[in-house]
Amino acid sequence: MNDYRRSMDTKIVLLGPPGSGKGTQAEKMEDELGLVRLSTGDILREAVRNETELGREAKGFMDKGQLVPNDLVIDLMKEKISHLDDGYILDGFPRTVEQAEALESIAEIDHVINLEVDDEELVNRLTKRRTCPNCNAVYHLIYKPPKKEGVCDRCGGKLYQRSDDSEETVRNRLKVYRENTYPLIEYYKKKGVLHNIDGKGDIKEIFENIRELL
Ligand code: AP5
Repeated sequence: MNDYRRSMDTKIVLLGPPGSGKGTQAEKMEDELGLVRLSTGDILREAVRNETELGREAKGFMDKGQLVPNDLVIDLMKEKISHLDDGYILDGFPRTVEQAEALESIAEIDHVINLEVDDEELVNRLTKRRTCPNCNAVYHLIYKPPKKEGVCDRCGGKLYQRSDDSEETVRNRLKVYRENTYPLIEYYKKKGVLHNIDGKGDIKEIFENIRELL
């Protein structure tokens, strides 16, 4: 296991289908390794809540479980990443080969962690997920319930169910993942930075497996 300072300089991409635990693991890496986390999903949902121009453009795509167009996401993420100096975790970016190429033009990624989970488990996880709108902490009604029902352990926020977590939309998101994001596994394998991690089982054990390889 590496020391805290080395982790701070590491640039990580979290890859994996919807519900594979990217947000859950990113939250632990942020809390325990001190890495900055940038989640495209969280940034886009905030834009939707605030009814910004980006939010208005993104909402229709997100509600249907489709990807937001590359031109919108690439400019947004390039701008956000340009403000970061040290190590960071990209949760949900890139999601297409075009996005990966754009990322490569501005940053050298050290590790790509691909969380592997089968489809039925993903549907079960997402349809019972609850999320905090304030700090973006993630819960599951059975696997990771909050201490007090409906209330975020981290910040006291009121938990809600994401509009794209209905079974129909989840299945569409899985299809979109296979068509657009799955090719990134081969892309990063060729670059020699890919690590496949079993995303099933105990959340802490998965985190320890990730920490071992950093
Ligand atoms: P985004 O918010 O990124 O959604 P996602 O990739 O579909 O991933 P999720 O947040 O649903 O799942 P996760 O892997 O983070 O799992 P989590 O830790 O929450 O994107 C939403 C939308 O925004 C997209 O559909 C698209 O429209 C748009 N978008 C985002 N990025 C984009 C991009 N780059 N380009 C274009 N469009 C983009 O865990 C899920 C559940 O499982 C939780 O309840 C959790 O408690 C539970 N859980 C986690 N780990 C375990 C475990 N080991 N065992 C049991 N339960 C577990």
